[in-house]
Amino acid sequence: MNTRCWSTRAVHAGEDKRKPYSALTIPIVQTSTFTFANSSEILEFMHSKRNGGPPPRDEYSRYSNPTLRMAEHKLAALEGGERALLFASGMAAIATTLLALLSQGDHLLMVSDGYHRTTELARTYLSCWGIETTFVPIDQPERWEVALRPNTRLMFTETPTNPYLRVMDLRALVDFARRHQLLTIVDSTFATPVNLRPLEYGVNLVIHSATKYLGGHNDLLAGVVIGPAEILNQIEKLRGILGTISNPNEAYLLIRGLKTLALRIQRQNENGQRVAEYLASHPRVCRVYYPSLPSHPDHAVACRQMSGFGGVVSFEIDGDFARTARFIDLLRIPYIGPTLGGVESVVQQPAALFSLDPRERAEAGIRDNLVRYSLGIEDANDLIGDLEQALAQI
Ligand SMILES: Cc1ncc(COP(=O)(O)O)c(C=O)c1O
Repeated sequence: MNTRCWSTRAVHAGEDKRKPYSALTIPIVQTSTFTFANSSEILEFMHSKRNGGPPPRDEYSRYSNPTLRMAEHKLAALEGGERALLFASGMAAIATTLLALLSQGDHLLMVSDGYHRTTELARTYLSCWGIETTFVPIDQPERWEVALRPNTRLMFTETPTNPYLRVMDLRALVDFARRHQLLTIVDSTFATPVNLRPLEYGVNLVIHSATKYLGGHNDLLAGVVIGPAEILNQIEKLRGILGTISNPNEAYLLIRGLKTLALRIQRQNENGQRVAEYLASHPRVCRVYYPSLPSHPDHAVACRQMSGFGGVVSFEIDGDFARTARFIDLLRIPYIGPTLGGVESVVQQPAALFSLDPRERAEAGIRDNLVRYSLGIEDANDLIGDLEQALAQI
């Protein structure tokens, strides 16, 4: 499907043509509770719930809400999944999913380069609850085999990863997982369904921090899990207990953001490519991490698998922590902060946000001179001009 088809899906998928009050946009159903006319209506509702299958109506917004359902339908259509579940954040989606699918005594394989809160969840918290994790390199299936245990249940990866933009070979992942009867979960936040659709490769579940590209405007927090109804029904039960669901206002903003997803990603792919090429040829930049560059370790896989490479470019400044911080402060266009994927460019020095302890940074593989630049939808020439003036001054 080309970008124009994705544009059509992003605008229309999951929406009824006739909406309440004949509104063109999806209404925000701002209610905690859905009422019943009388007690026999409640009994009828409880009977149909007990018979299995999706509940026939809404009951309470910790379980479901019409505005969220519309967003979920749109997200399922964009990823090509049977169902989607919305969460209060990407971390809420990841934590609820892992807790719903794993039990005490289970073992998990997780790719070592990834968002540091996800690795912290596995290392510090899942371990307390009797779920052990082995961290494995993204590109060495022979090491995955070695790490396997009789109780290994699941393999979790991001692609591209945060912050080094490593790319998982999804064919290799699915082949490995099928041979060993593991569930596979891919955090596809950096790719978006415009650039990659992991379910098409046979991955079981896709997760996004919808806070990033899907929302796209740096104004909401949300997460989503997409996949087969059979697995999502299990996760939905725990979401209803933990209360990690999103809310109607965020869902509305997400739907609004999704309408322009394909357009935004097209521009961010272009900006990513232009800026990565520019930085790769600059003498004060010693290394650029962007999957389309031939120097990237996963270049071949990325070219085979992805139709675009996104708007995040990570790179290393020729210098130390202080020089890198100075470079960031000299940039005029991007905001400095910890997010990515929105229309405004945002830059960060991961070492500064990760830990004040250089040893901890080294252990996590976060280099002091690393810059993670999330390009927005500004003009590429302006972004490059801005980088030029900052690099000239360090
Ligand atoms: C790849 C990835 N996954 C998940 C998350 C967590 O998302 P959220 O901030 O929406 O909880 C992030 C946050 O930066 C991320 O980069």
